[in-house]
This record gives sequence, structure tokens and C-alpha cells, in this order.
Amino acid sequence: MSVIKVENLTVQYSGEEHKALDGVSLEIQKGEFIAILGAHGAGKTTLCLSLNGIVPNMISADMYGMIEVLGEIPPKIPVRQLAAKVGSIFDNPEFQMSQLTVFEEVALGLQNLGVDKVTIEKNIKESLKLVGLEGFEERSPFEISGGQQQRLAMASALAMKPEILILDEPTSNLDPIGKEEVFSVTRKLNLEEGLTVVIAEHEVEVISEFADQVVFLENGKIIEKGTPSEIFPKIVGRQASVGVRVPQVTELASNKSNLFKSIPVTLSQAVEAYKA
Ligand SMILES: Nc1ncnc2c1ncn2[C@@H]1O[C@H](COP(=O)(O)OP(=O)(O)OP(=O)(O)O)[C@@H](O)[C@H]1O
Ligand SMILES: [Mg+2]
Repeated sequence: MSVIKVENLTVQYSGEEHKALDGVSLEIQKGEFIAILGAHGAGKTTLCLSLNGIVPNMISADMYGMIEVLGEIPPKIPVRQLAAKVGSIFDNPEFQMSQLTVFEEVALGLQNLGVDKVTIEKNIKESLKLVGLEGFEERSPFEISGGQQQRLAMASALAMKPEILILDEPTSNLDPIGKEEVFSVTRKLNLEEGLTVVIAEHEVEVISEFADQVVFLENGKIIEKGTPSEIFPKIVGRQASVGVRVPQVTELASNKSNLFKSIPVTLSQAVEAYKA
């Protein structure tokens, strides 16, 4: 069942000469893990913000083409209403925090939706557990680590029981431990809770392990789309021009192709493909 359908989507920010997205077509199925790759300015954030309606509802832009998310047309419904179905996580966790305690932070979105107190308490408990922050209820959101803050942002989104999570470079401001925390929670939500995940992310090793589909953007256009195994071997040699790395094992095996039966994108595939 497709949960996101985008056809020929074109976005041009108000007053800008260039299109930030230029004829993007994409279909995402329920439960899929989709990674969006691309160089600085390629349009990753614009695509994320189009899916949650922030563009054009909060950031003014001309939008053409077709976009449908869970049967809704994002530009046509309030951002807050869509946020209950589509959770969004951004790159700077601290900017997403506004409350004095973790509990209040997670409660905020639910209160805005007018959810009753009993449900709020139940949802907070469940969502903090999902991200591994049980017991943090009375802590200050500003005095926990970046990885914990980002998991708190995820809990705030999850408390509204969304079906889709959109993460825009959620680990770019985190240390390696924080990155690992956020990736493992994201993976768990996708595999165990069945959430559809759309993530813009530079950590190609992680993408190779987790993603069902990789969408490669360049200058607002999709230049490649497919599984990590289809995409990364094609990018070797073009990394500099497209502004994206490939997994180290992919690069190594491509340079030493006589030693490998096939070109791997994950470590376990590399072990498998190595001609010992
Ligand atoms: N609010 C805005 N107003 C005007 N132009 C914008 C705005 N946000 C982005 N752009 C432009 O739209 C294009 C796509 O930017 P976008 O932020 O979507 O790229 P990105 O792939 O997320 O880049 P990055 O890796 O830097 O996050 C760029 O040319 C950028 O300068
Ligand atoms: Mg961006």
C-alpha cells in the first residue's frame, strides 16, 4: 500500500530563480525505509518539508505537480494536523526543545491536539519507552545529551502515533554515540513498529544496512533511485561530482574488483563476496 505519492513535484521558493525540486516523482510503500541522498543544496530538506507540509504552508514557495501523503494533500491541510500522522525530526535537536521537563516536552503536541489527560500520560509513557528514555520524565530537555535530545524529539513525534517519520539529517550534530542511539531507535521503529521512515542522511554505511530504497537527488532532480546494492556501485567514481560518499566496502571492492565476486554495500556482503 503506498503511503506517499509524489508526481512531477516542483518547488520554487518565493523570490528564488532556481527550482529547489524539479519534477520529482516518487512512491513510498507502507513500512519502507527510504534514504534521501544528495549534495549540499540538492533538495533533500525541501523534499522532507514538502512531505510534512511545512513547504509551502509555513515557508512560502510555489509548488506544482501532485503530492499525496496518507491520502491527504499536505499543502491543503494545517501543518499541525498533518504532524499527527507524519512526525518530523530535524538536524538540531536543541532547537526543537521548548519545555522545562521531558514530560512536558512530549505532552506539548498532544495538548495542542486536544487529547485527554489519561491518553496523554499513556502515550508519553509508551513513546519514552520506545526511544529508551523511561525515567527521564522530570529531567530538563536542555541538560541531556544530543543523542537523548534527538530521541526525545522522536518521542514527541511518536506520542501522536504517526504512521510516517521524516528525519532530516537527524544525526549530523551528534557524536558517534548519539548517532548510534538515533539510528538504532529509528531502525527499531521501522522494523518492530512498522513505521514508514524517510530519512535524509549522509551516513552511507548505515543507509546501506537499513534502507529499502535510496533516492538520489541532484539539483532538485532524482538522478538515481533503487536499493543500496543497485545505487552505490553506480556512484563509485562519481562521488566528487554528486557530492556523496559510497560505503567504504563498495569503494574498496570496486578498486579491487578482481578480489570480489560482486560489489558489496555492507560489511557482511563484503565478507560474503570476498574471494578468499
Ligand atoms: N527557505 C528557503 N528560501 C529560499 N531558498 C531556499 C530555502 N531553503 C532552501 N533553499 C534553496 O533550495 C535549494 C535546495 O535546498 P535544500 O535545503 O532543500 O537542500 P539540501 O539537499 O537539504 O541541502 P543541505 O545538504 O545543505 O541540507 C538550494 O538551492 C537552497 O539554496
Ligand atoms: Mg538539508
